[in-house]
Amino acid sequence: MQQGKILVTGGAGYIGSHTALALLEAGYEVVVLDSLVNASREALRRVEQITGRALTFIEGDVRDRVCLDRLFSEHPIHAVIHFAGLKAVGESVAQPLAYYDTNVNGSLTLCQAMQQAGVFRLVFSSSATVYGPNAPVPYHESMPRGRTSNPYGTSKAMVEQALEDLVNADGRWSVSLLRYFNPIGAHPSGKLGEDPQGIPNNLLPYIAQVAVGRRPSLTVFGNDYATADGTCVRDYLHVMDLAEGHVSALGRLHEPGTHVYNLGTGQGLSVLEVVEAFARISERPIPYHFASRREGDLAAFWADPQKAQRELGWRARRGLGEMMADTWRWQRQNPNGYRSEINTPSQGT
Ligand code: NAD
Ligand code: WQD
Repeated sequence: MQQGKILVTGGAGYIGSHTALALLEAGYEVVVLDSLVNASREALRRVEQITGRALTFIEGDVRDRVCLDRLFSEHPIHAVIHFAGLKAVGESVAQPLAYYDTNVNGSLTLCQAMQQAGVFRLVFSSSATVYGPNAPVPYHESMPRGRTSNPYGTSKAMVEQALEDLVNADGRWSVSLLRYFNPIGAHPSGKLGEDPQGIPNNLLPYIAQVAVGRRPSLTVFGNDYATADGTCVRDYLHVMDLAEGHVSALGRLHEPGTHVYNLGTGQGLSVLEVVEAFARISERPIPYHFASRREGDLAAFWADPQKAQRELGWRARRGLGEMMADTWRWQRQNPNGYRSEINTPSQGT
């Protein structure tokens, strides 16, 4: 059914690997480009094992124009899904140049190579953070981008702007900007999931590591927000729903222009609601203590997801229980992430 392959940059990472799997299951041929700076080759081996299909893996950097030109000359690419980037908010404050280089320069280099190769279909990983701190909830795509509060968020807003300008300048381009809310969960097989290096920045990997005994207790950042229980509220969505959202977005790329979609459930959950749900599903206590607010955190936001439903026929289908159960299965079976394969081969059941 397709006229070529799908290039997935950053396809060995958390969202990219689940999307590569969803693409293979939908019948696409997949080429992954990843530098492995924050990922493991093992994730792709497991994608192939689960799907029973092979993909092409190229270890390379999205800022490397020579590598990109070779890739496009060797593979007929129908469309690109661009995940490759750095994503740790705190690190972006400490190392802004690295973030602008990878996220902005990497995206521009990719677009230049695509243009040269005559490939004009792109899906870009954006973030709800581009709405900024003052947008009313729920966030709707018609709202303007807001003032971003860290280099990570600014890099996403800059790439969105650059892509809009590119579409305006050249009518051959079709670009989807997908604004993710808070992806969590794992593939239901327990073989594929989120594998952060070092201390997790994000809530779910931290909770899962407490449950499995890698960390003693969760620090809940702030219990004095103007929310029902005082903790922050977010729109958590299952990574498989998010992956399927990318497959749906590909279907829209025959129409030139910029297409912006929120990918979220439309429902907010507090930190304590998530902790309680995880404890219930895992049947493990999740000890936690309150600490002061984390700088830059917003009290509460969630998506208006209706545009994606209307135009892409996509909506998040998996509920909180499934998100918790799948996260727990992944963490239990891979207590040390993809390194478990090497370090604890007997724990893979
Ligand atoms: P991830 O770190 O697991 O995946 C990113 C992948 O990109 C990794 O495999 C990494 O090795 C690769 N990469 C990084 N720099 C590269 C480079 N220069 N060249 C080639 N590959 C490179 O992160 P993720 O959570 O899967 O996020 C994927 C994308 O979605 C990112 O662009 C991220 O900013 C965006 N996003 C993520 C979230 C989230 O909560 N996870 C939310 C909104 C947006
Ligand atoms: C969720 C809630 C924390 C860890 C971030 C980025 C965003 C996007 C997704 C993309 C917050 C609380 C967390 C912990 C806690 N990134 N928390 N203890 O901050 O909504 O979004 O990831 O690439 O741009 O900002 O997600 O999972 O970090 O936090 O209490 O140890 O959990 O304060 O309220 P966030 P998160």
